Amino acid sequence: MGVGVLGVGHYVPSKVLTNTDLENIVDTSDEWIRTRTGIEERRIAEDDMNTSDMALHASLSALENAGVKPEELDLILVATVTPDTPFPSVSCILQEKLGAWNAAAMDVSAACAGFMYGMITAKQFIETKVYKHILVVGAEKLSKITDWSDRNTCVLFGDGAGAAVMGEVSEGKGILSFELGANGAGAEHLYQKNKGYIYMNGREVFKFAVRQMPESSLNVIEKAGLKKEDVDYLIPHQANIRIMEAAREKLGIPEEKMAKTIKKYGNNSSASIPMALSESAKDGKIKDNDLVVLVGFGAGLTWGAVALRW
Ligand code: ACO
Repeated sequence: MGVGVLGVGHYVPSKVLTNTDLENIVDTSDEWIRTRTGIEERRIAEDDMNTSDMALHASLSALENAGVKPEELDLILVATVTPDTPFPSVSCILQEKLGAWNAAAMDVSAACAGFMYGMITAKQFIETKVYKHILVVGAEKLSKITDWSDRNTCVLFGDGAGAAVMGEVSEGKGILSFELGANGAGAEHLYQKNKGYIYMNGREVFKFAVRQMPESSLNVIEKAGLKKEDVDYLIPHQANIRIMEAAREKLGIPEEKMAKTIKKYGNNSSASIPMALSESAKDGKIKDNDLVVLVGFGAGLTWGAVALRW
């Protein structure tokens, strides 16, 4: 038996904030944002929409896609750095909204690598046959911790949610290998100021990401006993197109084989990877039996990668 993804879903708020809109808020330009980051626009949740609301939309879509009912869920894992409140967890709020009364629930805090940490946690419970169906969600309302007067960060982030229902799949499919890692010594480069906004040393995070994304991708490919030529589709964390391109080039993957939601959604932290996975699967970019590599990095510093047979 394998452990894999039974269904995916994602949600983005309808309000679009373009680079041109940002030109009216901070001293920046559409040209700077496009060329330095690859972002053209991002979605912003209205005041009355919280992280759990976006998580709910994405989860309902993933459950429908998987053909799994909320009451069949054994565990809900929500990766987020922007919970509705510090406690209770978003996963508990989501459990109630879904009516998933049989599910245990907890949040996962690993910043932009959070969804990878969630997927791998889910894999352990399913593999050991403790649980059958686990909902893994990445959901963020980053706009509420964004300093809209700081041009170094406010142009980068957007709101959204992505979800995957995980369970048993046939032998040879699902998660073939994984890598998770952390380096707390790099915490100073990216953090939320006490109850406040995001602080980021962009250059340091950039250097770390350009090194880590290709390395982790190559590690999981090797652990699965495969070669980089075997990769059919790459889903990197959507933080900066230049970081993503560096990973793609190292793997020698053609441009059309890499998910690129960054252009229209920006960086959605833990939601970026599941949003890109869901959108790519629904657009038919991932086909049956494809080898998909998912790779993320984030504050902590944290990182995680998975080689997945679809
Ligand atoms: N518009 C115009 N100019 C800007 C802007 C902006 N929005 N932001 C910064 N600049 C200026 C800077 O002030 C600097 O000016 P200076 O040289 O006069 O000081 C100049 O542009 C160049 O700044 P750099 O930091 O060198 O620009 P760089 O090419 O490194 O791009 C960026 C900055 C996009 C932030 C890049 O470093 C990056 O993507 N880093 C990684 C970010 C990342 O991956 N974050 C992950 C977050 S995930 C999570 O856990 C939430």
